[in-house]
Amino acid sequence: MRIPLERHSSKAVYLQIRDRIRRLIETGALQTGDKLPSIRALAENTGVNKLTVIEAYNVLEADGLIAARPGSGYFVNPTLQPKSVSNFAPPQDVIVSEQPPPYPFEEAKSGAFFNHYMASLQARSSPGMIDLSSGFPSDSGLEDLPRIARRAVKQVTGSLFNYDNPQGQLMLRQQISRMLVQQHGMNVTPEDLIITNGSKQGLSLVVHYYVKPGDWVIVESPTWHGMLSLLYSMGARVIGIPMTAEGMNLELLEKNLYTYRPKLIFTVSTLHNPTGITTSQAHRQQLLQLAERYDCVILEDNAYEGLNFEPVPAPIKALDRKDIATYVGTFSKTLMPGIRVGYLVVTGKHYQPLVERKLLDDLHVSTVSQAIVSEYLASGHYRHHLAHLQAQHRQSQTAMLAALQKYFPPSASWTVPNGGTFLWVQMPAVPMAEIYQQALSRGVFVAEGTPFFPGQQGYPALRLNFTLSPDKIERGIAVLGELVQAYLSRTA
Ligand SMILES: Cc1ncc(COP(=O)(O)O)c(C=O)c1O
Repeated sequence: MRIPLERHSSKAVYLQIRDRIRRLIETGALQTGDKLPSIRALAENTGVNKLTVIEAYNVLEADGLIAARPGSGYFVNPTLQPKSVSNFAPPQDVIVSEQPPPYPFEEAKSGAFFNHYMASLQARSSPGMIDLSSGFPSDSGLEDLPRIARRAVKQVTGSLFNYDNPQGQLMLRQQISRMLVQQHGMNVTPEDLIITNGSKQGLSLVVHYYVKPGDWVIVESPTWHGMLSLLYSMGARVIGIPMTAEGMNLELLEKNLYTYRPKLIFTVSTLHNPTGITTSQAHRQQLLQLAERYDCVILEDNAYEGLNFEPVPAPIKALDRKDIATYVGTFSKTLMPGIRVGYLVVTGKHYQPLVERKLLDDLHVSTVSQAIVSEYLASGHYRHHLAHLQAQHRQSQTAMLAALQKYFPPSASWTVPNGGTFLWVQMPAVPMAEIYQQALSRGVFVAEGTPFFPGQQGYPALRLNFTLSPDKIERGIAVLGELVQAYLSRTA
């Protein structure tokens, strides 16, 4: 086994070994039951100390990827064979919604997103319900929150008797811009940032700014249903470009840019909702080039930023030299959704009009919420909290992959996202609406795939949240697997 090491990298050598082996397992190069090199052989082969290899194997074992057999060595864990993401979806056509909806508000109100959102609130308050549906982070690791919140509130008490800047507090904008520069190599200053009520408000401001009723808008297919409902509510016409393992299909994107001359491309480039796919570096560059060529703006939603297990490519906005992309971020997925703090990165001439729209919308975001996030960032708690979430989500994802392997039929396939909160399971010929209802009556709430496709014209799939305890994951997936197997044997 060849393990290329970067001796001058800031990443510890044992982590480089772990990542390489993990990748070999995820891509199928190492298969279930395959024997790993002995500790001595790998140490000699890679020119490292035996203890370094032992450390790497220990972490892989803790992640559930490999298992030791006494006297025989280490093997790829037989209960785990993540399926390759490359076959995550069946071939799909582009979805073109020819007509804008006739009653935009009604469409949005009764739309799939509204229904799912309300059902999700209800499910979360039902005792004993296993909620595999929501895209929420795990709420552990926030024990310091009351103390931090008290300190933050003290600092803003005076300003509570005043209105504040529509673009948000300078201190918070400075902290976020620093984070974006350091972590994503983005060329951002506090003057490019607008703090919004969650990223949802940012998305809404941008879409209303660029898109008029009847305009064409491109989305990934599937995509986040919250965006679909927003687009329909304002009478936009939506084109769904099939998602591949590397991001949206660029050939089909170009064809549709040429034919329809859309105003905007919406992309969740990192840890995509609902598939968990991260658009590759090459795809990001080409997507930006295409948008420039066809004079179409990009709305890049990075709601799951910071929840990646391994490094991800820089955002499209970091490559943007012509102010064609607007970037949206949020603290909903890394701290808590209820705090309602998100932000927009808008460069160039579009900044001022968007700040004015923000003012017209709701004046500004609560200074208390802004101060709490600011205090989190200043105290260094945020960085630790992210590391905690990443480790915890990695473990729970491993538990879900093992449960899927155990309970789901071989015809099912699923993505193995590099982080985030959910993965995407697809099974040809299984009516997921039926499985969804049956699971609900057995206390398991899932997100059915249909609402994530424009015009609800997709293939059968489920989005499953893995940020639960391993015990709940096992019980929830066992119920789903049983229902799916029962359906398949009824119809065989
Ligand atoms: C892709 C995506 N964008 C935006 C949002 C909205 O998040 P916020 O709470 O920041 O408004 C969500 C929430 O689920 C999401 O999944």
